[in-house]
Amino acid sequence: MRTNSEFPNLFILDHPLIQHKLTLMRAKERSTGGFRTLLREISLLMGYEITRDLPLTTERIDTPLQPMDAPVIAGKKLAIVPVLRAGLGMAQGLHELVPSAREGHIGLYRDHDTKMPHEYLVKLPEAEGRLFIVVDPMLATGNSAVHACDVLNRHGVDDENIRFMALVAAPEGMRVFAAAHPRVKVFTASLDSHLDENAYIVPGLGDAGDRMFGTK
Ligand code: URA
Repeated sequence: MRTNSEFPNLFILDHPLIQHKLTLMRAKERSTGGFRTLLREISLLMGYEITRDLPLTTERIDTPLQPMDAPVIAGKKLAIVPVLRAGLGMAQGLHELVPSAREGHIGLYRDHDTKMPHEYLVKLPEAEGRLFIVVDPMLATGNSAVHACDVLNRHGVDDENIRFMALVAAPEGMRVFAAAHPRVKVFTASLDSHLDENAYIVPGLGDAGDRMFGTK
């Protein structure tokens, strides 16, 4: 896991398998099915890194040989919150890793002219001390990421209890996000070069939702 001097709360997941799979996803000839499978696999690997410091407690169990106090994850069940619709593909991988996690949804669409997010759906599990992992493959302008965390704050979730998982991030979006939510840790597989005039990440991988669902 690498850190970045400009963004203290950004963690770049440089595991070779994550990097290899991201390269396969970026390639424009990748099929819809291949893209979706890779997104699920890469999210599982990223989730492994993101959950590395979850607090543990112990639970008394009996092995076939003797009782023991065995480690289990402490506290409330995690909440996975995909930002619709592209976040859905990442949530799937996380659920394979943490099957008991709750799932909330934040539905946003991006106005093509203003590039600002518009909210059409919010459905979340109870906050009370739970860790929320927000997932959205592309942290581009940062506006949707900020909006999603604002929604969680309004729901009673403190920034300390939010983690943001993006497959690819742009420096412009990270600047916007870090200014609004400096205490939310962001995990990504790559901090790419820049945004183009249509707010697409360069080199990026195109429109993640379209590539995942085979739409245009
Ligand atoms: N959303 C995408 O799907 N791709 C980008 O490059 C930027 C925003």
